[in-house]
Amino acid sequence: MLSTYLKKIENKEYKVGIIGLGYVGLPLMWTFHEQGMPVIGFDVDQRKVDHVNQGTPYIKHLGQEMMGKLAGSDLCEATSDFARMPEADALLMCVPTPLDHHREPDMSYVVATTQTISKHLRKGQLVILESTTWPGTTEELMIPILEENSGLVAGEDFYVAYSPEREDPGNADFNTAKIPKVVGGHGEDALKLATALYDTAIVQTVPVSNCKTAEAVKLTENIFRSVNIALVNELKVVYHDMGIDVHEVLEAASTKPFGFMKFTPGPGLGGHCIPIDPFYLTWKAREVERYTRFIELAGEINTSMPRYVVDQTASALNQHKKALNGSKVLLIGLAYKPDVDDDRESPTYKLMDYFATVGSEVDYYDPYVPAVPKTREHAQWEGKKSIEWTKEMISSYDVVVISTDHKSIDYAELAEWANLIVDSRNAMGREGIQADHIFKA
Ligand SMILES: NC(=O)c1ccc[n+]([C@@H]2O[C@H](COP(=O)([O-])OP(=O)(O)OC[C@H]3O[C@@H](n4cnc5c(N)ncnc54)[C@H](O)[C@@H]3O)[C@@H](O)[C@H]2O)c1
Repeated sequence: MLSTYLKKIENKEYKVGIIGLGYVGLPLMWTFHEQGMPVIGFDVDQRKVDHVNQGTPYIKHLGQEMMGKLAGSDLCEATSDFARMPEADALLMCVPTPLDHHREPDMSYVVATTQTISKHLRKGQLVILESTTWPGTTEELMIPILEENSGLVAGEDFYVAYSPEREDPGNADFNTAKIPKVVGGHGEDALKLATALYDTAIVQTVPVSNCKTAEAVKLTENIFRSVNIALVNELKVVYHDMGIDVHEVLEAASTKPFGFMKFTPGPGLGGHCIPIDPFYLTWKAREVERYTRFIELAGEINTSMPRYVVDQTASALNQHKKALNGSKVLLIGLAYKPDVDDDRESPTYKLMDYFATVGSEVDYYDPYVPAVPKTREHAQWEGKKSIEWTKEMISSYDVVVISTDHKSIDYAELAEWANLIVDSRNAMGREGIQADHIFKA
């Protein structure tokens, strides 16, 4: 059976099903399609399905050209009809793995998708989980659901693997095809098949012993980032009080050719990964009576950063004999990082909340997020629109707080128009703009 599928992969007749056409699933579908593999995308969100089939973009950095090619191809199709799952030889799951209200793993999307697959699973199919998750998810949570509902046996009748996604949306140097892919299989055959599949489209495949090792690799990468970001955030606060510019320190330190890796402080963590993923390990570690103190500490420092930016804004306003209460505050950047339109977990929301709580009048400007979309956590801002970029508007605020340093923003113009600037990203510093009304936070 295995050799038949390997042959199909070699002949590019192996149909790749992608479940979840978001920031991860859509570029993954494109990556296989670019190599001439037939692809079929599944999503519960009919709007995304229609966008793919009609060739209209819905993620900023995955633009018109790519969407047009997908829509115009005989080898690509999207659907919300999950009964078509048996058409695919492989089913790659790229669904969300957020935290619930108690900051514990919310596995509802993974469970729902696995249940759907199990109803349509056929012999010989390869199921790969790509969502970030706690070690053990594939074998302890998914396989029992797949086997129970289908009556098939993993490793005998169908194949299962785990391969974490390392997508970095908006990174011009690395797209899905250029980022090495770690793969863990449930058994030798699953690993061989999954590796052969990724080898067709991705620069390097990195096989590891099993699924839980691959799951742990992804969490380790993101814990590493969270902890290091917390470290430079802590240093930022300490150095500020000592009259030392942390950005200058980090810039100089990063000239060391070994043993140092540069991380950049900011207004807090954002995005669907770094603020969330580490806590998947924290949760699972309790099972073996272990505690992840580094992760908790990093979380504590990183979540305190928006509050720090608010405090720095208060002292900047003080110097202008103004209080936060009653001041007009403009936030620059609603996306959680530069040059993308993804506002998930953006620290700007936290800043908006804090400023509003102390009585400031809050607006934002973001060329990529024209209006606040529907979110679970920040419903009070839903529908609020980005202000327009004009001298008249910018100069009407008591203070402008830079929370996301989009490249397209004209910082020289901002420096000229704004009454007071609090820069949490060193955007002004990088542009070489210095003035008495610009404060770092
Ligand atoms: N965004 C990133 O930069 C990134 C990077 C690496 C890893 N990840 C991980 O990848 C996974 C997906 O993240 P994302 O950013 O692509 O999420 P996303 O929200 O952009 O996309 C998820 C998609 O899954 C769909 N979906 C939800 N439930 C479904 C179901 N039952 N059946 C079919 N489709 C369903 C949603 O409609 C959505 O289109 C997460 O585990 C995330 O942690 C994300």
